[in-house]
Amino acid sequence: MSYNLLKGKKGIIFGALNDMSIAWKVAERAAEEGATITLSNTPMALRMGQTDELAKKLNAEVIPADATSVEDLQQVFTRSMEVLGGPVDFVLHSIGMSPNVRKKRTYDDLDYNFLEKTLDVSAISFHKMLQTAKKLDAIAEYGSVVALSYVAAQRTFFGYNDMADAKSLLESIARSFGYIYGREKNVRINTISQSPTPTTAGNGVKGMDHLMDFANKMSPLGNATADECADYCVMMFSDLTRKVTMQNLYHDGGFSSMGMSLRAMNQYSKSLEEYTDENGHIIYG
Ligand SMILES: NC(=O)c1ccc[n+]([C@@H]2O[C@H](COP(=O)([O-])OP(=O)(O)OC[C@H]3O[C@@H](n4cnc5c(N)ncnc54)[C@H](O)[C@@H]3O)[C@@H](O)[C@H]2O)c1
Repeated sequence: MSYNLLKGKKGIIFGALNDMSIAWKVAERAAEEGATITLSNTPMALRMGQTDELAKKLNAEVIPADATSVEDLQQVFTRSMEVLGGPVDFVLHSIGMSPNVRKKRTYDDLDYNFLEKTLDVSAISFHKMLQTAKKLDAIAEYGSVVALSYVAAQRTFFGYNDMADAKSLLESIARSFGYIYGREKNVRINTISQSPTPTTAGNGVKGMDHLMDFANKMSPLGNATADECADYCVMMFSDLTRKVTMQNLYHDGGFSSMGMSLRAMNQYSKSLEEYTDENGHIIYG
């Protein structure tokens, strides 16, 4: 159902790879709510993914960019203003990648060149995006910028690896830049901390199936889907949230406020056996 929440608004969506991507759902919902948009992803993702299909469907121009390149980002903002006819009202940063996760390097055996790449792609790209947009004056007054995060920024999750550090930095950038951009241009900057979601990036996380099941059992409302995340992004892009800024907003069915649920407790008691040695002693890990 459409509420025309973004009628007449213009936006840029970074990170739609295929129809599982959260950014894909956000692009579709934004268009449904009346926005006109441009799409951006890396040249490699544009070759391997289905972004062109989405672009056709939404009548949106695709502007290739590696989000770690300031030059590429300048091109995205400049071209978007040309195509859309002026500064944009919203931007979605839906970008994440860790070579350490990909190459199965554990957190106590990180490759530091990979770590730099993780931080650059998954967090510093957000700063680059904001700084580039501000210098070009590419975001309109009361514009809204959202980046997607995960609760591993606050709490430790087995297997999330150096992406946890990237998400902490991402959320910090939202606060630090949110202060400056808010003060000078009334632009608001927030992160949405999303439930585990079955996407290409999500499936790269170690034990994703179990993590999703655990989060679902722990959350009173269950895991939030990519479609529901798109709804939340639309609300954050709309004029209904004009004074919300510098926040990390949990969109996780209540997971982040839970300690233990009945459903998780039941599951845990069933599988306790697996975590004992042959003498019945519990193996901690
Ligand atoms: N899937 C989950 O469980 C989950 C949970 C919380 C937060 N998130 C976050 O949501 C965001 C979107 O991920 P997704 O789950 O939709 O997966 P996805 O794989 O569909 O999206 C990740 C995107 O990042 C893009 N990307 C990678 N390197 C890039 C670069 N250098 N420049 C520009 N783009 C680049 C990829 O091409 C891809 O489109 C990420 O920030 C992710 O960490 C995902």
